[in-house]
Amino acid sequence: MKRNNKKNHQLYGFFTSVGLHNYPGGGRNWPPSSKKKSVATTTIIFLFSLIFIVLVSAGWIDASFFSVISSYKSILVVSEKPTPPQKSEFPLICNKGNATKCPRNYPTSSYNTTLNLSRPMTSKNVACPSYFRWIHEDLRPWKETGITKDMVERARRSAHFRFVIVDGKAYVEKYRQSIQTRDMFSIWGILQLMRYYPGRLPDLELMFDCDDRPVVRQKDFRGPNTHPPPLFRYCSDQWSFDIVFPDWSFWGWAECNIKPWGDVLGDIREGNKRTKWKERVPYAYWRGNPIVAPTRKDLLKCNVSQKNDWNTRLYIQSWDEEKKQGYKQSNLQDQCTHRYKIYTEGWAWSVSEKYILACDSMTLYIRSRFHNFYIRGMEPLQHYWPIRENSKCTSLKFAVDWGNNHTEKAQAIGEAASNFMQEDLKMDYVYDYMFHLLNEYAKLFKYKPTVPAGAVELCAETMACLANGTWKSFMEESLVKSPTETSPCNLPPYDPQAVSQLVERKASSTRQVETWENEYWQNLNKKH
Ligand SMILES: *[C@@H]1O[C@H](CO)[C@@H](O)[C@H](O)[C@H]1NC(C)=O
Ligand SMILES: *[C@@H]1O[C@H](CO)[C@@H](O)[C@H](O)[C@H]1NC(C)=O
Ligand SMILES: *[C@@H]1O[C@H](CO)[C@@H](O)[C@H](O)[C@H]1NC(C)=O
Ligand SMILES: *[C@@H]1O[C@H](CO)[C@@H](O)[C@H](O)[C@H]1NC(C)=O
Ligand SMILES: *[C@@H]1O[C@H](CO)[C@@H](O)[C@H](O)[C@H]1NC(C)=O
Ligand SMILES: *[C@@H]1O[C@H](CO)[C@@H](O)[C@H](O)[C@H]1NC(C)=O
Repeated sequence: MKRNNKKNHQLYGFFTSVGLHNYPGGGRNWPPSSKKKSVATTTIIFLFSLIFIVLVSAGWIDASFFSVISSYKSILVVSEKPTPPQKSEFPLICNKGNATKCPRNYPTSSYNTTLNLSRPMTSKNVACPSYFRWIHEDLRPWKETGITKDMVERARRSAHFRFVIVDGKAYVEKYRQSIQTRDMFSIWGILQLMRYYPGRLPDLELMFDCDDRPVVRQKDFRGPNTHPPPLFRYCSDQWSFDIVFPDWSFWGWAECNIKPWGDVLGDIREGNKRTKWKERVPYAYWRGNPIVAPTRKDLLKCNVSQKNDWNTRLYIQSWDEEKKQGYKQSNLQDQCTHRYKIYTEGWAWSVSEKYILACDSMTLYIRSRFHNFYIRGMEPLQHYWPIRENSKCTSLKFAVDWGNNHTEKAQAIGEAASNFMQEDLKMDYVYDYMFHLLNEYAKLFKYKPTVPAGAVELCAETMACLANGTWKSFMEESLVKSPTETSPCNLPPYDPQAVSQLVERKASSTRQVETWENEYWQNLNKKH
């Protein structure tokens, strides 16, 4: 398969070839070469080192300062820490005024990143977060039969693109234009996974549909010899076989000026600190676009009015208006000002879900039909408060009332979700999820995938060098600069019982809340 940049341009009409940045080749070596300084007195250095170690262990000083201290290692009798391995970074190499090719300097295996090539990869040796369990569930329809070429081809009907990995290289065949640049950032995400775990992804091909709602209906595949096509998308529901995959916004949502998830997490962490929970507005907050779904229009009926106070404060988000005003209102880190935040799905799952849960206000989660990949690991009363879909206003009023009476508990629920987002859903685990999902998927293959005739090779350079504006800067920000040094977390084994227990536990705590809610309204009505 030859790289074909002309084809590349046709394929990605949304890329432009102007504004190419010329990055210096090679790579910034980290850390900078150690400087041997002449030492006046050992004592001073020793004290300095001690202070430094205290600062480092308290997390105040970035570890990159380590190089300074490494030359004094011989006298650091108290230090047990080995010198961190020297790690190379591999920034983008864009050729000015020339077609950008996929450079071949990036390591082909994780062992190549450190200067010591014989050093084996260190094991993370931790269990994956609970939501990884669902990888097996999503792939269960093909567990017995495996995946054949015919099945994959049948998934093409609604796919926006086919993604192929052969010998560690990525190829894409584009079929139709997606909404905004969803396809571009999804492809970008998989390319970053390949930089994160180079040489560790098996040969595979997958069909990806970037639209909102699942389309592989279970009821169409009940009979014998009817095998569903494996189709990847951002969400699914309990009646569908679509395989869920992280959405584009983890690498940034350029059209809405929402930064890559790794950066947003940092911003929200800061935002959470800004107002103490108890000092926040004691109402339920929501800001969004109500036009996308009837259930959202229904929610707006619960806004505070002269007649009713359902303990909510609801606002309409107009992205066009936001754009004009420079996205001042939509700063995610500035939205943790209320004790409670409402989540409601839109036409399908909503990208806003993770930003709402990351805020350490308690999430009031309106029962949803659609699930993304991580929400299945979260539980009512532990990470959020369940809200009825068919009686939102009464349900919300009770939830806020309960929270204001049980502030410690409400605060704990908000913090648990926030910690889940910061820890279990940090980018390292998003890559681990993609890694395990694609690995398990590839294990099911009954044939050896080959590069299709219509496909072009893609890499970070062929995408980012041709991008411009916010698209380009989000790619630069979310670029994986070097392979990870640790192996993926340990995938929990296939355990249908554990899954059904989890489902039962969720249903039971939701029922519990509904019972409290009924009692509350019965008592109120009795009084009147
Ligand atoms: C960036 O690219 C888009 C489409 O790819 C194009 O419409 C837009 O004019 C470009 N902007 C600049 C500043 O070059
Ligand atoms: C483009 O790259 C080719 C080789 O990859 C080189 O021979 C040629 O001089 C380059 N052209 C420019 C304008 O840099
Ligand atoms: C390291 O990368 C080089 C090419 O850059 C490759 O030839 C070599 O086999 C790689 N080493 C390992 C251990 O994969
Ligand atoms: C490189 O790593 C191997 C395995 O961990 C170790 O035995 C060896 O001493 C290391 N070499 C250097 C120069 O650090
Ligand atoms: C909801 O009520 C608040 C307070 O009165 C108001 O500022 C806001 O605009 C209302 N939201 C909608 C969508 O009408
Ligand atoms: C909260 O406390 C008030 C005052 O004690 C009480 O009237 C109300 O029913 C309580 N609400 C809930 C949901 O516990």
